[in-house]
Amino acid sequence: MPDPAFVDKLNEQIGYEFGASQQYVANAVYYDNETLPRLAAFFYAQAIEERNHAMMMVQYLMDADAEVVIPGIEAPRSSFADIVEPVVVALEQEKRVSGQINALAAVAREHGDYSSEQFMQWFIKEQI
Ligand SMILES: [Fe+2]
Repeated sequence: MPDPAFVDKLNEQIGYEFGASQQYVANAVYYDNETLPRLAAFFYAQAIEERNHAMMMVQYLMDADAEVVIPGIEAPRSSFADIVEPVVVALEQEKRVSGQINALAAVAREHGDYSSEQFMQWFIKEQI
């Protein structure tokens, strides 16, 4: 079983990944409405990636026989000042997630939960 402190934090992270997915749908919709189809397509694809990250975490917890608690999420930003702002929001979000992922790896290591630490390695690489 993964360490309970790690399980709590990973359940929290599932919400952040779904939140990132929703933000990228909002970004994609904004660009679609601005007739910027390549930026729209980029963010629609990113939204699916983030959803997949959340589902990888759900699967890990189930495989490890830990409790899955799907969190609620905050509404994403849907209005932007100009066509640059959604990219700024995305970059800030990714930097924030990198910090969260590193913190998850740290909790796993602190508690001697090496399976969970190894599970986080994929995400550390992905965030680069
Ligand atoms: Fe992610």
